Amino acid sequence: MQDQVNPKQVPTQHPLDKPLVVLITNEVWAMDLLRTALSSDVAQLEIIPRDANCIERAIRLAPSVVAVEISGAGPQGFDLLRAFAHNETTKEIPCVAMAALPDPLIRAAAFAASAEDFISRLSEPEEVRSRIGTLAKLGMAHCRERMAEAEIAALQKRLNDRAHSLTDSERKVMRLEKSLVVDSDTYRKSVRGLLEIGNELNEVQDIHLLMEKILSQARKLIGADAGTIFIRENKLLRFKYAQNDTLSKRPGVVDASRFRFSSQVLPVNDRSIAGWVSESGESVNIADAYALDPGSPFQFDATFDQLTGYRTQSVLALPLRSSNGRTVGVLQLLNAMDSDDRKRIRFTDSDKELLSHFASIATAAIERTQLTESVITKVLLMTETWDPSETPHHTERVSGIATVLFEEWASRRGPVGPAFERDRDRLRIAARFHDIGKIGVDNLILKKPSKLDAAEFENVKRHVLYGARIFVGQSTEFDESSLEVALNHHERWDGSGYPGYVDIDGNLLLDPITNQPRLGGKKGEDIPLFARFVSIADVFDALSNKRCYKEAWAERKVLDTIRGESGKHFDPELVDIFFSKLSLIRDIHKLHPDAS
Ligand code: C2E
Ligand code: SIN
Ligand code: SIN
Ligand code: SIN
Ligand code: FE
Ligand code: FE
Repeated sequence: MQDQVNPKQVPTQHPLDKPLVVLITNEVWAMDLLRTALSSDVAQLEIIPRDANCIERAIRLAPSVVAVEISGAGPQGFDLLRAFAHNETTKEIPCVAMAALPDPLIRAAAFAASAEDFISRLSEPEEVRSRIGTLAKLGMAHCRERMAEAEIAALQKRLNDRAHSLTDSERKVMRLEKSLVVDSDTYRKSVRGLLEIGNELNEVQDIHLLMEKILSQARKLIGADAGTIFIRENKLLRFKYAQNDTLSKRPGVVDASRFRFSSQVLPVNDRSIAGWVSESGESVNIADAYALDPGSPFQFDATFDQLTGYRTQSVLALPLRSSNGRTVGVLQLLNAMDSDDRKRIRFTDSDKELLSHFASIATAAIERTQLTESVITKVLLMTETWDPSETPHHTERVSGIATVLFEEWASRRGPVGPAFERDRDRLRIAARFHDIGKIGVDNLILKKPSKLDAAEFENVKRHVLYGARIFVGQSTEFDESSLEVALNHHERWDGSGYPGYVDIDGNLLLDPITNQPRLGGKKGEDIPLFARFVSIADVFDALSNKRCYKEAWAERKVLDTIRGESGKHFDPELVDIFFSKLSLIRDIHKLHPDAS
């Protein structure tokens, strides 16, 4: 079999924790020089002989840097350098040429053959170490990019596979439609509605709209007063989508859509019906939640009823099980209703059969979102391996807190719907990337255990531009928001922040009226809204936790600072919202603690 090189091949080794330098040579002096220069804490070193197969072997190792010794025995060294520079897989990997003598002609020829650097037998090991170290940093970034590409390709493939299994579930519904005794027109219409949802999953990006549709169609078709979709997050079930006809008609009562902002969660255990369903993977059909069989393996958790004044009676709850057997959530309907809106005793077996098809569509949608999330998390983890100055939890907390502020801001401004959910996701994701530009900042500065000098701080300030550049030229809403947040999260309400009115290269923009460059930071509502949420969350988190350059502050001092910066650093309305949501913000702070 021919040893073919696939240009998009995924690295076989995990190249993220330490750079790998591959040295191609048959010369002992070259091996000794790199072994001495690259002690094991700088980079891992692999040596392969310079022969006809060395390019293929080097590619399989997924190196961060390739060093080619060109003067000794083996195939023409300059040809090897050129081959690396022109190969689709290796052209981004920095190449270093090594020769026995520091001959200026050889050196010039090596650079002409696309070498990034030139090292001779006489080079100082210390210098070799620092030069290769710099190149390795570049090479690692390239490796991470390729891994992210591979992740995304795998994600797309899995999404396509899901689309096929959806077609299967549509077919099942059609069969079901035929086999059931179809007793009314409404029923037919509802089943048609169900089919439309299946198609929609292939087209509609908006997961939340879809989930709301799944709930409302299922409730209509089966006849249920209320319905909830819980999403499983490890050992918790999050009360994520909820509809309740009785509560939404009753004036003065907490309505279900407001209720779920409180981030209600249930543990996965036998103390609640949904908790047990997600734990056991079994479905339940209960006539009266308040009159459970004494031998029942689970209890009913009446918290929701107590909070809202609702009276739960019949319950039909199905686990949302993915194709690989994982329970991703629970679909639950409450209070079976007649067609004339009177309570029935209980849900029937055919209700349950029908609901299982809604469950499979909901499962596919949740899996799809979770795949997207996992790609994002992996991309973040990859960048965070490179910046040891903060823990990954920083981004989680900033994202969580910014989201809480946004929820409250949105609910103060009026009714919320699927557009709100979509915006919230955009913010949540953009906030996770707010500091990704720090990968472009020198680690020594980020890790400095004391106060930065002016030049160092100028350097750190560029992280907002580096971050913005990562998202430039992409066309999704998610990229737009991420760019906006990365660029503007250090602007201040009073105009004293950075980077100000600049393009992503840092060039000052002209004032449209005076045609003069606009100096100073962006001010007030010139600062994009999402960035204002992230700004306050970021500073709260930076002050509340230990950093390499500062201790964690006492909460009192943090809160006084935030209040004192109202109208200076922060949008006053958001400071107000911050304090109204303080207990929730404290919970997030505790939920993702930094390891001490
Ligand atoms: P970061 O650590 O995530 O801090 C984010 C923001 O929180 C800072 O933005 C600042 O607005 C606020 N903040 C953090 N610590 C303090 C503090 O002790 N006092 C006050 N009043 N505010 C604080 P800023 O200043 O633009 O800094 C951006 C990033 O630059 C920081 O992100 C950090 O990575 C780096 N940095 C800033 N100052 C230092 C320093 O003295 N030493 C080191 N090693 N890094 C620093
Ligand atoms: C909710 O439960 O809907 C809010 C919490 C979250 O963003 O997941
Ligand atoms: C989500 O809805 O949580 C993920 C958003 C996305 O698909 O980008
Ligand atoms: C952080 O988000 O705090 C660090 C981000 C990074 O290292 O890119
Ligand atoms: Fe920042
Ligand atoms: Fe930050």
